[in-house]
Amino acid sequence: MTNRFGHWLASNNIRNFNLATKGGWHAFAESAPRQPLPPVSASEFRAFTEEELEDYNDSRAVWNANPPAMKTAQLVRGFSILDQVMASSYRDGDRLRGSAVIDAAPALGKTTIATRYARDFHRRALRRSGLKTEEGHQRIPVAFVPLDSGVTLKGLNQKILSFYGHPGAHRATTSRLASLAVDCVRSCQTKLIIIDDLHFVDFKHRRGQEVSNHLKGLANEMPATFIYVGVQLKAKKFFDEGLYGEDASFAQTSRRATRVPVDPFTVSTGPGMRAWCDLLARFEDHLLLLNKERGMLVEQAKEIFRRTQGNIGSLTNLLDRACQFAIRSGRETIDAEILNAVTVDNAAETSIFSP
Ligand SMILES: Nc1ncnc2c1ncn2[C@@H]1O[C@H](COP(=O)(O)OP(=O)(O)OP(=O)(O)O)[C@@H](O)[C@H]1O
Ligand SMILES: [Mg+2]
Repeated sequence: MTNRFGHWLASNNIRNFNLATKGGWHAFAESAPRQPLPPVSASEFRAFTEEELEDYNDSRAVWNANPPAMKTAQLVRGFSILDQVMASSYRDGDRLRGSAVIDAAPALGKTTIATRYARDFHRRALRRSGLKTEEGHQRIPVAFVPLDSGVTLKGLNQKILSFYGHPGAHRATTSRLASLAVDCVRSCQTKLIIIDDLHFVDFKHRRGQEVSNHLKGLANEMPATFIYVGVQLKAKKFFDEGLYGEDASFAQTSRRATRVPVDPFTVSTGPGMRAWCDLLARFEDHLLLLNKERGMLVEQAKEIFRRTQGNIGSLTNLLDRACQFAIRSGRETIDAEILNAVTVDNAAETSIFSP
């Protein structure tokens, strides 16, 4: 028999949005936040049947692992720079728009900033202008295009077309693919295009330069603003288009693109420590553990920082595991012992042990 947690899970379980397709993007952008779990008292918890306990713990695993995107200083700053870049999206279609580049080390929340910003944009555009364009096409305000390793010019065009579910994605020639992609963007009135994981392009290599030139060409032809997202793009010479020395000053990307840096948290300054504790307090509010006490994470702020180096991705990994452990061990809180027992991701682990 289904209990109230089974019911909760039925409509709030893990959501596997495939953002690389218009349907998946739409579902993500239109998804409502999860309903809060029904509250449970300590005595109710003790009286749970085995099945209720199983469903309650599974529901909590889903809830705890999916905190809403927190309004961190990094996210707010990212949104503000993106707003400024979007100012050029008001230019008429024949004028070139600027682009933004979210460029930082791994797992600092780059994709989160891009997708949350684009989700707001998607909702605003559909509310204002409706689901269909004036010509009767589906309006798709945002396209999300994640790249993978060894991406080629043809592969890039195919990825754009598969986002739109275009049947020609796997058949046409490279130049035909490009013009089909431009058609899709124009007819669906896409205004914001996110190219994620751009670090898979090697800008110093000829094939990478082809992709980079092609992106410039697309930006000229598509009346949309581009947000490029990737790891260490500056070091990978994305802005210089792979050029060195004096030649680098001719790189157009450098003039057209605005860099959005995303920094890890720091605890070496007063304001930095306050921001870190504030973030931990917000995670603490979200987590569902029966013996959770106010200050549970904030009290461990320094240790959690040591374990994660202020990297929000490592933090969410650590908290996911600590919660699972807290639930399975019956301690129902995150204390020093639980933190000790949890291993974090490899990068965070290696940094702890390196001198
Ligand atoms: N503002 C935020 N609030 C809550 N969680 C966040 C926030 N930003 C990032 N995270 C979490 O941190 C993890 C890493 O975030 P994200 O995938 O956005 O980082 P990334 O910089 O794109 O990583 P990668 O370099 O691997 O592409 C995710 O689990 C995400 O949910
Ligand atoms: Mg990412």
